[in-house]
Amino acid sequence: MNYNKKTVQDIDVAGKKVLLRCDFNVPMAKDGSGVITDDKRIRAALPTIQYLLDHNAAVIACSHMGKPNPTFETYVKKQTEKGKDPATLTEEKWKKSLAELSLKPVAARLSELLGREVIMAADVVGPDAQSKAAALQPGQILLLENTRFEKGETKNDPALAKAMASLAEVYVSDAFGAVHRAHASTAGVADYLPAVSGFLIQKELEIIGGALANPKRPLVAILGGSKVSSKIGVINNLLEIADTIIIGGGMAYTFSAAQGGKIGGSLLEADWMDYSLEMLQKAKDKGVKLLLPVDTVCADKFAPDANSQVVKAGEIPDGWKGLDIGPETVKLYCSAVADAGTVIWNGPMGVFEFPAFAKGTEAVAEALSKTDAITIIGGGDSAAAVQQLGYADKMTHISTGGGASLEFLEGKELPGVACLLDK
Ligand code: 3PG
Repeated sequence: MNYNKKTVQDIDVAGKKVLLRCDFNVPMAKDGSGVITDDKRIRAALPTIQYLLDHNAAVIACSHMGKPNPTFETYVKKQTEKGKDPATLTEEKWKKSLAELSLKPVAARLSELLGREVIMAADVVGPDAQSKAAALQPGQILLLENTRFEKGETKNDPALAKAMASLAEVYVSDAFGAVHRAHASTAGVADYLPAVSGFLIQKELEIIGGALANPKRPLVAILGGSKVSSKIGVINNLLEIADTIIIGGGMAYTFSAAQGGKIGGSLLEADWMDYSLEMLQKAKDKGVKLLLPVDTVCADKFAPDANSQVVKAGEIPDGWKGLDIGPETVKLYCSAVADAGTVIWNGPMGVFEFPAFAKGTEAVAEALSKTDAITIIGGGDSAAAVQQLGYADKMTHISTGGGASLEFLEGKELPGVACLLDK
């Protein structure tokens, strides 16, 4: 895939209406108060927004938020699947569920950060969006409502893409977190407007793409998380690129079981045991070091206050389950990080949300904060861990994309990037 895409700096935006796709899918307080608990993604969009406003563009920003049900029928279907009694599901409840995913709180936060008014549209391509977009002047910014309120969005409906495109003259995408989605606002709209990237996508492509295409070696990839099945593509692709692959988290137990280890009640994906063996063989054939835990912190129950003990990998007693990498593994993994030229990290080493089983993840984060290597953190849990531990500013790059950075590491084509004009 070609990552060398035109950016906002390659086109003239002065006096033009620019449709800017951002990823404002930010975490919100669970109480429905509309409080944004982490505004990182809004801040990450500021350089492009500021550039466009400074260059006299009229900015029509848009984004999705969460996974709303765009029709009452889909709402009833989804809630029924979740076990709710259909008789209790009303249009009023559906509308409330939509209101909780409104972008209004984002408009308010964006306005604070920019120090200027952000005009909010009540719809995406409806009468309010159309009249506000038509009246928008250079140097002003309008935010459309949640793009997923339109049922055509996730289906990449050309009619919706065309309607969105008709609001503007240029399309700029800066929604790195959503580039793995072929949706109307992330890809379809580029069929109808000249399409370029903003600074955030440019940075993510340069840093992650650079590490994959031409890494400073040795390239060490640390892969954690609970399931082998969710990391198959990444392991497979990185076996072609990396010098060392470190496996931690729940998925390590499937590797252990596949090699005949005793894993007690640890997480196991039995269907992926053969695959794990194949990956071990592939690593050997390719001369890639694939490191697995040598010891494990195991617990007598899945709980923060569980009793724990450290045992050798593959020797977890019945009734116990592995919840973190052990101290010898920490030493092994941290020394691989210390010698690295580039480190890519995706996924925690253990059950990071329980302090007693967070030590492996903490130690890896600390090792990354100390190494001279280029350090790239995939979004999601590892990004959250680095942030919580206060190491964020010690990393070369923390991706704003969870699923997007994972698909990037898998070597997949990203529809939200492929649709942009080549340089
Ligand atoms: C994310 O949070 O990873 C992006 O905003 C994409 O969201 P999605 O998984 O709902 O498409």
